[in-house]
Amino acid sequence: MLELTYQDRKGILSSQEITDYMAASKDILARVKKGEERYGDSLGWLDPDQWGGEAALSYLEEKAARVREIADAFVLIGVGGSNNSARAVIKALRKPGMPEIFYAGNSISPHSARCLLKELENRSVYINVIAKNFETLEPGLGFRILRRFLEEKYGCEAKKRISATGTKGSWLDKLCKEYGYDFFIFPDDIGGRFSAICDVGLFPMAVAGMDIRGLVQGAKDMRQRLMSGEEDNVAYRYAIIRNLLYKKGFRVEMLSFFEPRFRYFGKWWTQLLAESEGKDGKGAYPVTAECSEDLHSVGQFVQEGSPVIYETFLNVKERDFSYVLEADGVDDRFDYVNGRDLWDINQAAFGATCQAHGDRLPVFGLTVDRLDAYHFGQLFYFFEFGIYLSGSLLGINPFNQPGVEAYKNYMFRALGKK
Ligand code: PA5
Repeated sequence: MLELTYQDRKGILSSQEITDYMAASKDILARVKKGEERYGDSLGWLDPDQWGGEAALSYLEEKAARVREIADAFVLIGVGGSNNSARAVIKALRKPGMPEIFYAGNSISPHSARCLLKELENRSVYINVIAKNFETLEPGLGFRILRRFLEEKYGCEAKKRISATGTKGSWLDKLCKEYGYDFFIFPDDIGGRFSAICDVGLFPMAVAGMDIRGLVQGAKDMRQRLMSGEEDNVAYRYAIIRNLLYKKGFRVEMLSFFEPRFRYFGKWWTQLLAESEGKDGKGAYPVTAECSEDLHSVGQFVQEGSPVIYETFLNVKERDFSYVLEADGVDDRFDYVNGRDLWDINQAAFGATCQAHGDRLPVFGLTVDRLDAYHFGQLFYFFEFGIYLSGSLLGINPFNQPGVEAYKNYMFRALGKK
């Protein structure tokens, strides 16, 4: 279950404003639920069954089991939407006894490349390059470096340890056919940042032993929930309120969490919001805060800086780890926590921060029951649907990202790409 609350102690938005905007935007909600024809080439994620159905899941589980038979290190080569969803889940829910997952193709740093190759030296390695158009430099170079590494390590057996996820008929598909690499599908009708529930996100997750069925079920249950309601539709409410706040000058959304296991989910979320809404001179700038650490840096700005931020607190209801602090006889002046569980102390810090920040800013609360694959599925779908809606309210196309071409053009020119 996922719960959304909204607190606005300063009364920046009246409940009437929210109700009116919701009533006035019902046609947008209806269009988004159906999926608009103009975005037909980007809506493959809207029904999780389309690319995450039973046949796909069984196939991926079988392929993942084979990878685990031959490898104890799996390198996911990809950047942006091609690695963010899998990394978010794997880093948060890492399981013992599974291959270690490494990430490449998301940096051009020679230091990173050298460190990775060193780490892989004494391991049994398998690589999966994920690229929708296979023109992005980072995964292209990462693939070349890792391919060479595997060829030197395994000779002609290397091809059994290489797979690619790309669109059918793409250059990557062609390379797979020519060199005998395994090929997975990057659906034509799904953009990178919406690709959690298809081979892109699910294959690496399956290799890492993640519960991909639970994840897909979470997304399906969230879809069912969002397809049925209006006033009580949590994604609609989120989209409506954040657009009203935007109109009132709140130009930064901060996703804050007290659980560091959400760190890479934060990266996924940042990409989803920034690339979907940051265009045509519009959009709220997404930032994340990993608390409590970041309270000691950006906390000051939030409490007293420019009043442009609203905050979304992501929290987990059920305790899954515990550490009780015992007195040790040393008078370190922290005895007031004797006998208390770190989980509860963290929750106390969370509650106090909601209180303090809520005195000044509008704040959303987003709570999931527990940190597991099912709830990641819920979160992925909630935000994807919510941002499709929010972008539509804002009047932009949430599915393209023309702005990212600007630096690429300069870079390709500098590198002499024809
Ligand atoms: O969301 C998107 O579509 C982008 O951020 C892409 O995921 C990212 O640019 C990587 O693209 P590609 O998979 O083509 O290398």
